[in-house]
Amino acid sequence: MVHVTAPRHDENPALAELLAASFATDPVIARILPPENRTRDSLHLWYLAQVDTAAAVDVARDEDGTAVGVALWEPPHASWNLRDRFRPLPRMVRAAGGVVRYHRSCKVMSKLEEHRPRTPHWYLADLAVASSARGTGVGSRLLQHRLPGFDRDGHDAYLEATTAGSRRLYERNGFEAVATSYGSCTSMVRRPRNAPALLPSEPESSVA
Ligand SMILES: CC(C)(COP(=O)(O)OP(=O)(O)OC[C@H]1O[C@@H](n2cnc3c(N)ncnc32)[C@H](O)[C@@H]1OP(=O)(O)O)[C@@H](O)C(=O)NCCC(=O)NCCS
Repeated sequence: MVHVTAPRHDENPALAELLAASFATDPVIARILPPENRTRDSLHLWYLAQVDTAAAVDVARDEDGTAVGVALWEPPHASWNLRDRFRPLPRMVRAAGGVVRYHRSCKVMSKLEEHRPRTPHWYLADLAVASSARGTGVGSRLLQHRLPGFDRDGHDAYLEATTAGSRRLYERNGFEAVATSYGSCTSMVRRPRNAPALLPSEPESSVA
């Protein structure tokens, strides 16, 4: 039986490794970090920067306590002071292969961010499950750790699904597609249960 906890104090490198392995062949990270420098080391560095600065980290564990999944969330009204904002930068620049390439990565990320709601919301920055544990409900368990609280508190949530498979998982959990970018990336919004649908009849917009 999988349970969800906060990370242990020395666990971030292992969580970064789980994320790096899970996203090694992801089509959207392939846009953000171009193939020539998308090595396992650069992916590890990239995700270590994310885990170290994430405001909310949920870890799914099996009975032995081994981490088999991780979710990184940004809460509404996340207060980023300058120090927090710049803290991940050195690692991200190194992971991207230098300032020029990092600038290109930022352009892709900004394009994806265009579809983020302007109103306060929880943002699911990353969700990954170890390949050996996929298809057994770990991803759903991580989502269900948070979503009922968003319903109770009336909070919207937003994410980008990078594959058709993950999109199906999010749809089953109440997210609706609002736009597609770069072919396979779907921006999705979830309204709290009992709230009116966000865009009842609007077609998805698309960015090439
Ligand atoms: C997407 C992911 C988090 C799902 O975790 P999971 O624990 O396998 O999810 P669950 O067992 O709760 O649900 C299974 C559903 O996940 C989705 N899924 C997506 N990729 C999957 C994969 N490689 N293996 C199994 N399920 C996958 C499917 O919708 C599947 O349902 P289906 O059987 O009806 O197609 C996991 O596959 C993963 O880490 N993938 C690589 C990283 C990634 O794509 N993250 C999401 C980016 S938005």
